[in-house]
Amino acid sequence: MRAEKRGLVDGGLILVAGRNGQVALELARALRATGHQYLAFGREKLDIADTDAVNRAVQSLKPVLVINAAAYTAVDKAENDKHAARAINALGAERLAAAAHRVSAPIIHLSTDYVFDGNQSTSYVESDPPNPLSVYGSTKLEGERLVANANPRHIILRTAWIFSPHGQNFVKTMLRLGAEREEIRIVADQRGAPTSAADLADAIVYLSNAVLEDKKVPEQFGTFHITNDGNTTWHGFACAIMDGARLRGARAARVEPIATADFPIRARRPPNSTLNTTKISRTYGIELQSWRSALEICLDTLVGLPDFSDRMKVVGV
Ligand SMILES: NC(=O)c1ccc[n+]([C@@H]2O[C@H](COP(=O)([O-])OP(=O)(O)OC[C@H]3O[C@@H](n4cnc5c(N)ncnc54)[C@H](OP(=O)(O)O)[C@@H]3O)[C@@H](O)[C@H]2O)c1
Repeated sequence: MRAEKRGLVDGGLILVAGRNGQVALELARALRATGHQYLAFGREKLDIADTDAVNRAVQSLKPVLVINAAAYTAVDKAENDKHAARAINALGAERLAAAAHRVSAPIIHLSTDYVFDGNQSTSYVESDPPNPLSVYGSTKLEGERLVANANPRHIILRTAWIFSPHGQNFVKTMLRLGAEREEIRIVADQRGAPTSAADLADAIVYLSNAVLEDKKVPEQFGTFHITNDGNTTWHGFACAIMDGARLRGARAARVEPIATADFPIRARRPPNSTLNTTKISRTYGIELQSWRSALEICLDTLVGLPDFSDRMKVVGV
């Protein structure tokens, strides 16, 4: 599923809150590719923690749809910065949703797998009871509830472990450490689904089209889980990144598995935050590719194309 295949949707401006984040940058690409009119504002132009700024922007632009790609995403820092995290993830999200509702616009809002405590052995469905372990998770959960109350036409997308060629993320950190060190130690007892910001952005544009075309998809609003297909641990993810780097001729480190308890960090993380994505597949037909294929595409951009010349020699090409 690529957003480009859906073609143009006329009529009306899409307002994106957040401009420089991983998802926001990929959204800009996907929205441009489909010919949508959109404006994406960074914090300097549209601080979602500022009620007047949000109301002014939404009232004057009268968007047909608002997408919230802005968030306080520093999971560990948030433990000592609850006020700021809540102002953005909960109250800022509510402000945008309410302002959108006042101009009769739906909102697409992003949330996280970290709303769950991760103690379940199976993947989480949307109706499973959340129980966040961290300040980040609890402010995102409050944001979900406030958005849903403020605007009945909401699509809340819970996603996970986002990576892309932009900003800060696990893939870029691993490539840097792989170039600097012989060995790295990565936790092997937290499981989740690495998710490409590009695939997520394509899906958001697909959902935008569905909502704007008013296809009357039954149950089109609500909360949905969306990640790339498959799951792994941070250790498994790191190994795949190092393998991909090696294949492309870049330096890579050996990856040793460790336990969460061996790597003290401020915020607690769920041991299993895999999300069941059946609902978005049944409702909208959206199924993202495997995280491994998505990772290869990201590595092609960050490191270069793989070198298969050795394998070609083996088969006599
Ligand atoms: N990253 C992940 O692994 C992950 C996993 C699950 C869910 N999510 C969710 O997915 C969404 C997108 O994540 P992402 O990875 O794209 O995040 P990101 O790269 O950290 O981008 C977030 C953006 O929000 C902006 N922002 C922060 N506070 C703002 C404010 N008050 N007003 C306007 N903009 C503000 C930031 O701007 P500055 O650069 O100025 O700070 C940044 O550009 C978020 O809702 C996040 O909670 C992310």
